[in-house]
Amino acid sequence: MTQKIEIAPSILSADFAYLAREIAKAEKGGADLIHLDIMDGHFVPNMTIGPLVVASIRKATQLPLDAHLMIEHPDRYLDKFIEAGVDWLSVHVEADTHLDRTLNFLRAEKIRAGVAINPGTALSSLDEILPLADFVLIMTVNPGFGGQKFIPSTLKKIRRLRETIVSNGYQTRIEVDGGIGANNLRDILGAGAEIIVMGSATFKSKDGTSQAVRQMKTICEQYMKNPDSV
Ligand code: DX5
Ligand code: ZN
Repeated sequence: MTQKIEIAPSILSADFAYLAREIAKAEKGGADLIHLDIMDGHFVPNMTIGPLVVASIRKATQLPLDAHLMIEHPDRYLDKFIEAGVDWLSVHVEADTHLDRTLNFLRAEKIRAGVAINPGTALSSLDEILPLADFVLIMTVNPGFGGQKFIPSTLKKIRRLRETIVSNGYQTRIEVDGGIGANNLRDILGAGAEIIVMGSATFKSKDGTSQAVRQMKTICEQYMKNPDSV
């Protein structure tokens, strides 16, 4: 199995008063994309940013922007986020009644189309749309907040999704999000995850953001060279 592993620091744990500076630190450490958590206070009990802020972030970095929409009726806002300059976009399977339409629309707009799935939602809910998804975002915590504890049962879910993708010959990639850090990164890579979102482990690291991202990249590189060595 060849995996292209990418690190996606989540700005949810950054200092929002200094976003450009915070993102530059992540970029310096070797971040592959910047993860943006969009919350509406309905689908999840927290609120964050909308297209206006995303458009400003777009000007602050060359890195691809990965928008994770934790909002109800995400289909109503796709245009706005595309206009704001996102490159990857995921909607929740629990929030979008017409996923087939959404994913086809995103792909037609040349946006990487993703489906996010909560820890309590069965993988089988993705069966019909898996071939249409560029990536699946497996939530490894219940969405809404940074700094939560990784839910161990999600490891099996990552592994099962990897098996389904491989056995069907799909191109779908696996992104994971929540409670991930140096302590469990190896297990998560071993289960088959390829795009790793990290909020508190990067932006709140005591070693500083650049150093923390660099450390995660090193673990990933070691894993890619020799999966048994890490
Ligand atoms: C949670 C968000 C995550 C969050 C992860 O709902 O989707 O992207 O920033 O934060 P950590 O890595 O601290 O769990
Ligand atoms: Zn997220």
